[in-house]
Amino acid sequence: MFIIKLGGSVITNKAKECYFKQDVVDRLAVELKKANKQVILIHGAGSFGHIIAKQYMLNNGFKQKKQIKGFAMTQAMVQHLNSLVISSLHNHDIPAVSIPPHAILTLSNHKLTRMNYTIFEQYLDLGFTPVSFGDVALDTRLGFSICSGDLLLQMLAAEFKPEKVIFVLDEDGLYSANPKTNKNATFIEKATRKDLEKLTTRVDAHADVTKGMKGKLHTIKQIAREGVNTILLNGNIHNCLYDTLKGKKVRSTIVYGDKI
Ligand code: IPE
Repeated sequence: MFIIKLGGSVITNKAKECYFKQDVVDRLAVELKKANKQVILIHGAGSFGHIIAKQYMLNNGFKQKKQIKGFAMTQAMVQHLNSLVISSLHNHDIPAVSIPPHAILTLSNHKLTRMNYTIFEQYLDLGFTPVSFGDVALDTRLGFSICSGDLLLQMLAAEFKPEKVIFVLDEDGLYSANPKTNKNATFIEKATRKDLEKLTTRVDAHADVTKGMKGKLHTIKQIAREGVNTILLNGNIHNCLYDTLKGKKVRSTIVYGDKI
């Protein structure tokens, strides 16, 4: 089984509110169908979640009454994005079912304290493709906060120990520095968790409510601790996801899970 996250910057235009990249999602759906693997799919919120979540400072927890409206609107917008993703999967003959995080988990100070894993298992056993996503959720300490797709990936990887976790990004993989702002950034083909420790301090966080690349490195290290390999690849390159699912080497980064 594979756990795959379609990043918000691949499936949406992060700069334009609620801009869904239908053509990209349709192509990725074709690749998933062709590869014919058992998959749990997670997708990010992109411009359906980050812009409004930032505006209402939802990740800081409940501080002011006006945030209530922002929370409710964000929940609706990410669910709308989820419906668009699910429809594309259905159009490509993938039996996708939606598992909204806000209904199956609770956070406490941003950390996951309770999650219904059985629902994923039951759907998988019946032959469905469970699809979950970055969402807003209740937080017992903060009132509410944000549950990123990366956090879901980390928790699901620990629970299900998949063959691989795959991050589908709008970059080829990991670099020694942010390639969008640093010309000298070098591409990393392979890394261990130890290699990533050195990298973390040098990579600057993008302006995301869920901490961008810095947060992602933390997630990948946690997945590696579970002994699971993570692959980061470019979702804008045709067949990169398909080839990877089929075990073919493409330009991508692999982070090896710890030997346990
Ligand atoms: C963020 O989810 C969820 C909200 C902002 C509500 P992610 O952190 O997984 O989304 P992307 O992949 O960065 O867009």
